[in-house]
Amino acid sequence: MGGVAQRVAEAADLVTVALDELLPRADGPESRLTEAMRYAALGPGKRLRPFFALETGRMFEVDDRPVLRAACALECIHAYSLIHDDLPCMDDDDMRRGRPTVHKAYDEATAVLAGDALQTAAFEILAHPDTHKDGGVRSEMILKLAQASGARGMCGGQMIDLMGVRDDLGAVARMQRLKTGALIASAFELPLIMVKAREGERHALLAFAQDLGLAYQIVDDLLDVEGEESELGKKAGKDAAKGKTNYVTLLGADAARERLALLTEQTKAHLEPFGAAAEFLRSSVDFVLDRRS
Ligand code: IPE
Ligand code: IPE
Ligand code: MG
Ligand code: MG
Ligand code: MG
Repeated sequence: MGGVAQRVAEAADLVTVALDELLPRADGPESRLTEAMRYAALGPGKRLRPFFALETGRMFEVDDRPVLRAACALECIHAYSLIHDDLPCMDDDDMRRGRPTVHKAYDEATAVLAGDALQTAAFEILAHPDTHKDGGVRSEMILKLAQASGARGMCGGQMIDLMGVRDDLGAVARMQRLKTGALIASAFELPLIMVKAREGERHALLAFAQDLGLAYQIVDDLLDVEGEESELGKKAGKDAAKGKTNYVTLLGADAARERLALLTEQTKAHLEPFGAAAEFLRSSVDFVLDRRS
């Protein structure tokens, strides 16, 4: 078994190759759209959601190939969420993954369409029989990803973020769980549906995923204050400048870090029922949360 960094890099390569095959290409004027989709989805992201999906599948000893399709669907939704998050009407960011954002490299209308089409591509990938032979399983996966992405998931969280949250940690935690946690939880939930995991296993792993998702966004918010733009590949200091409310703006970086440390321990504790089978997942928590980009 390779180290976490190596396994993350391998997952990133696998998903990039698979996405390259799955994403449409076009001749004619609509090629501008397919190029923008590819620019966003094939860019140098960390691919952590695909990594977690693949590792979850491996925990249950299933073949990588169908899980990789689910991982591609997740990454399509994630790439779409970032394209729209960066638009001038949302966070108004010029740089993403060390390159101009999609609306800068192309234009705003193309960025909106590329996000839209990546979103539908995700569901097209899941709906295809190659993802799972059982149509019931596929439809459950589609339902879960739709719920995680929509008004009661990522989009809902993004709306709360834009509206501003009340100055209380509970409200901030809810926003973070929706805007970031829901999609991270799907990285575990989709493979769990595919392997028809037992209810107890599903509960434990989803509790883990929810805390991990919240912790992941707290790290993102800490990096916004403390990270290096050259490492982040995106602008730093933008949350305070835009008057956003998050753990770091509310508590300050030191207290946010203390909360994060507690949350990290709590996250790992959810893996206890899995024993040695979850050892790798446990060690990946520190890797993911200790990130600098
Ligand atoms: C950035 O996500 C936005 C958040 C939800 C925190 P990632 O940190 O996973 O970004 P990439 O995919 O590696 O660029
Ligand atoms: C974005 O959160 C979460 C999404 C659902 C895309 P941020 O706005 O903090 O992400 P960055 O910092 O721009 O990557
Ligand atoms: Mg945002
Ligand atoms: Mg943003
Ligand atoms: Mg951020």
